[in-house]
Amino acid sequence: MSQRVQIFDTTLRDGEQVPGSQLTTEEKIIVATQLEKLGVDVIEAGFPISSPGDFRSVMEISKAVREPIICALSRAVTGDIDAAGDALQFAKRGRIHTGIGSSDIHIQHKFNTTREKIIERAIAATKYAKTKVEDVEFYCEDAGRADLVFLAQLVEAVIAAGATVVNIPDTTGYCLPEEYGAKIKYIFENVKGIHNATISIHCHNDLGLATANSLAGIREGARQVEVTMNGIGERAGNTSLEEVVMALNVHKELGYETGVNSQLIYPTSQLVSKMMRMPVQANKAIVGRNAFAHSSGIHQDGFLKNTLNYEIMNPQDVGVDKSDIVLTARSGRHALKHRLELLGFTFEKAILDDLYKKFLDVADLKKEVNDKDLVDLARTVVIA
Ligand code: KIV
Ligand code: ZN
Repeated sequence: MSQRVQIFDTTLRDGEQVPGSQLTTEEKIIVATQLEKLGVDVIEAGFPISSPGDFRSVMEISKAVREPIICALSRAVTGDIDAAGDALQFAKRGRIHTGIGSSDIHIQHKFNTTREKIIERAIAATKYAKTKVEDVEFYCEDAGRADLVFLAQLVEAVIAAGATVVNIPDTTGYCLPEEYGAKIKYIFENVKGIHNATISIHCHNDLGLATANSLAGIREGARQVEVTMNGIGERAGNTSLEEVVMALNVHKELGYETGVNSQLIYPTSQLVSKMMRMPVQANKAIVGRNAFAHSSGIHQDGFLKNTLNYEIMNPQDVGVDKSDIVLTARSGRHALKHRLELLGFTFEKAILDDLYKKFLDVADLKKEVNDKDLVDLARTVVIA
């Protein structure tokens, strides 16, 4: 029996913090509706105190999107919590996500306070948020760099105050996978009342480790993972939804499942990229233009013999129509023959050898040989 991992999507909150990616309320509703179809469990719709527009977005998404939990961010400040509660008033299931810094760096240099005062503020914020909604998630900001013993005390205090979910963010993307996994393990082993709350993980990608850290957290017992589509987010971004979901799907032996309909991953990625004006890098895992493209002769030959040789998932599993064989000067005869056959040309070996030489001449001059180039080449032989 697989264990269910909740997908908490923060594309519209942490993702939308990226400069130039801001969305109008109407655009946010379009993305939220697509995330609902995708099957995420929680949509973090915004930070209502931050602007009237974001307040309106959280309120309108709460009315339009009914299946996932709708979450609103707040700092551990009554005014923020009031705004989050008001913005969620029409939500079928609303969650307030409140929190405060937990590392000594944040405690001293951001809040200019003490660990004791942080715990007092955390308890007060959690209790106040509970007067607005039943479902309160508490984030221990910069938990990645926090003292472990203090972090466990903070987690215990907010669970006792009524937090239903506790988020352990690696806000600065600092941790290594074994270190982050060990943090989650320590929390499970040392916090009284730990089973009264879900532990959530929220990783940033400053060292390119967000997905690895998230998987390490899941393996140590976290049952909610916070992600964004295409991994967009502050600085180097957040954990990618598509990477975590497909890592769990491909590695079924780990024994985890999500509610995501993976076949909607690619269309959702395209929608988010377009609406948030954030192009997806060509080699991005799962959703990049080259994620299912094969270009070297050795790979193309192996792929054409059996796709399993070079693909660990079917492109259709993530909503991509088909794999791509890109013809370049690194391609081999097998790929050329295959593409010519698709275009309706079959040649015996000697002619194909000759064509292959001509193909390489063209390919050396161009980055990619397209179908029109191939038809032109093939016709030189057919006509002769
Ligand atoms: O990275 C972070 O710590 C956050 C919190 C606000 C959850 O985004
Ligand atoms: Zn974040």
